[in-house]
Amino acid sequence: MNIRDLLEERISKAISTLAGSPAKAMLARSSRPEFGDYQANGVMSVAKKLKRNPRDLAQELVQSIQLDGIAEKLEVAGPGFINIWLSKNFLSDSLCNQEQLLTNTAHTETVVIDYSSPNLAKEMHVGHLRTTIIGDSIARVLTQLGHKVIRQNHVGDWGTQFGMLLTYMQDQTDNLDEYDNKLADLENFYRAAKARFDSEPEFARRARTRVVALQAGDEETLKAWKQFINTSLSHCQTIYQQLDVQLSPDDVMGESAYNDDLQNIIADLQQKQLLVESHGAKCVFLEEFTNKQGEPLPVIVQKSDGGFLYATTDLAAIRYRFSKLHADRALYIVGAPQILHFQQIFALAKKANFIPEGCEITHHPFGSILGKDGRPFSTRKGGVEKLGNLLDEAEQRAYTLVAAKNPELGEEDLRLIAKTVGIGAIKYADLSKNRTGDYIFDWDQMLSFEGNTAPYLLYAYSRIQSLFRRGNINFDEIKAEVITTTTYEHQLAVNLLGFQEVVELVARDALPHQLCNYLFDLASCYMRFYEHCPVLSAEKTLSHSRLILCKKTAETLKAGLYLLGISTVERM
Ligand code: ARG
Repeated sequence: MNIRDLLEERISKAISTLAGSPAKAMLARSSRPEFGDYQANGVMSVAKKLKRNPRDLAQELVQSIQLDGIAEKLEVAGPGFINIWLSKNFLSDSLCNQEQLLTNTAHTETVVIDYSSPNLAKEMHVGHLRTTIIGDSIARVLTQLGHKVIRQNHVGDWGTQFGMLLTYMQDQTDNLDEYDNKLADLENFYRAAKARFDSEPEFARRARTRVVALQAGDEETLKAWKQFINTSLSHCQTIYQQLDVQLSPDDVMGESAYNDDLQNIIADLQQKQLLVESHGAKCVFLEEFTNKQGEPLPVIVQKSDGGFLYATTDLAAIRYRFSKLHADRALYIVGAPQILHFQQIFALAKKANFIPEGCEITHHPFGSILGKDGRPFSTRKGGVEKLGNLLDEAEQRAYTLVAAKNPELGEEDLRLIAKTVGIGAIKYADLSKNRTGDYIFDWDQMLSFEGNTAPYLLYAYSRIQSLFRRGNINFDEIKAEVITTTTYEHQLAVNLLGFQEVVELVARDALPHQLCNYLFDLASCYMRFYEHCPVLSAEKTLSHSRLILCKKTAETLKAGLYLLGISTVERM
């Protein structure tokens, strides 16, 4: 159990006994060292219910709370907070007896995560960065805590655009082997196809015929389509590799995979008497969704021409995820513009009983990436920035920085470090912002060695490694206890032991910036410790104790960065 939960359990017990009914102690890390290590702020609401003076109640509680061997001081503060100082022995024992930095959560689940999910008709662009990076981090966090994670890359590989694209392709070549070459620049390919579709009626007619053939399962068309999809997917896979995200071709479960199930979904909804016909289209009306005039908003699941929609496919995906993949939780990491879409289909899926009792389905939306001008991020030419170019630029910029700092390093080392720093900087800049808001893409900020950035954390980690090299440390020979005499050591120890609770928080809320803030605090705390507490030159017992703190810090930084999808470097 993490420390926060342990304290909360003990103190809640005491409050509940006093209140005569279950009450929560509401524990959080204290905002300042003067307020102790943790603070309970649940007393006030209990006092209100009991019509008692909250400070008196807190005072009474402090006498009855059972924290022997855990806390060394409890103090009532402000209107009725209880400040808690952890005991030296508890900190030392907890750190020294820790076998792993993270342990599995008590209750593990099957969690489906829908992320990245680009449309394959076009090239991946900056718009896909957030879902891919955030989703990857959440997947790592949940996996690390022992959950069974099933990644679902719900790519857009079906729909009318493919008629247009395949027709355009047919005019270029009939040879499937040449697709790779033709689609090298998918963005231009799409644009050229669209231009013909919009300006040539005969081309548009052929494109529509091609869609019908595709949907009817015409063998030759399907073959061409498959080749197109595979080529486009391999572009995505290149980006995933460069970004170091753990998505593989096996995680692809695109829209087309649900084709055969869409008619069943309609039949199912029909049978459950949820369908209403409106202007020839099949719709479901949900009372909770109305337009500005107060009229109910329909979710259209089948068009009057018989075609299915994005929503229909998503319903099939939901049913599949709970009934076939046996998800306990399904998370959707998709941008804020789709909030209403998910609200509607989740509500519909619940109504249709696609989501078993006790299971959870949640959308975790995120804001946009903006340029420094506050407008959607774009290239200098004004087009949408291609992801591959952006990642190359990150590596190049990091290379310049790292090379200037480390003139002694060889080319190969420099390239490797630059890759870690450059890609890490892009990921960290994204993950460190609360995902619910927009953020400004700023090279200088994300590549800065100061502040809450990847370079700062990577540098902190590499500094610890260089300390070990300098001291020629062999940790097999060091089995010391941790002595937390100074406030710097105490703070560092408390921070280190808070890793588990912050990771569990990220697993619950899918908000990775909480982990970033934690790591930034940890690194800053370490820097203060290092500035004030000599490590190698201290007398032996103290030196060993401090080395253990250094080691734990390095391990925690590494493990934390890994959960963000960022690797570490030994020097930089
Ligand atoms: N392909 C969609 C897009 O690019 C995102 C899909 C998200 N996932 C889902 N199950 N709808 O906007």
